[in-house]
Amino acid sequence: MRPPFSLFPSFLFLFLLAIHVSTAKNLIHDTCKSIAQNDPNINYNFCTTSLQAAPASQCAGLRGLGMISIRLIRYNVTDTRCKIKHLLQIKKLDPFVRACLDDCYELYDDAIPSIKQAMKHYNSKLFVDANMAIGSVLDAASTCEDGFKDKKGVVSPLTKRNNDTFQLSALALSAMQIIQTSLH
Ligand SMILES: *[C@@H]1O[C@H](CO)[C@@H](O)[C@H](O)[C@H]1NC(C)=O
Ligand SMILES: *[C@@H]1O[C@H](CO)[C@@H](O)[C@H](O)[C@H]1NC(C)=O
Repeated sequence: MRPPFSLFPSFLFLFLLAIHVSTAKNLIHDTCKSIAQNDPNINYNFCTTSLQAAPASQCAGLRGLGMISIRLIRYNVTDTRCKIKHLLQIKKLDPFVRACLDDCYELYDDAIPSIKQAMKHYNSKLFVDANMAIGSVLDAASTCEDGFKDKKGVVSPLTKRNNDTFQLSALALSAMQIIQTSLH
């Protein structure tokens, strides 16, 4: 018979390993579940798919997931600004659509320094400031989309992108809210 003290540590080791692996893997699911329940703007599948696709997300803690979502916003915003620039190069563009795209370009252009600020604030744990910066990005996406709704029959070419940026921003805001709550 093995002495218990040699059996116990290996059992404990495996147990802790299992806990560790399972929490890392389930954190995204658990976080997205509670965020989607609390915020009707966030789709559970969007949340898990976005976070899981990001590098190193499987090993991230809650704070890491928050940072990952802010990074995703930054990629989205940068890419969308570029897309709008290309759309504005189309010669035969409806004047109303062009005016909307001009506004959207400005909104997304301003969103880039905002999201950079948000990253800095987040890293310094200045969550109130990070919140405001990300809130302004969320507003930019929804303002851009709303512009196209002012004229009947016009279809926004940016609906998916605005929605993605909106949802990612709402996701980052919710993640920060959970982090702040767990700090108190
Ligand atoms: C924006 O982010 C979402 C979620 O990560 C991703 O699915 C989508 O492809 C991104 N869009 C762009 C234009 O980068
Ligand atoms: C964004 O798209 C999702 C579907 O992917 C939808 O459920 C949600 O209502 C949309 N959000 C907004 C603000 O349009």
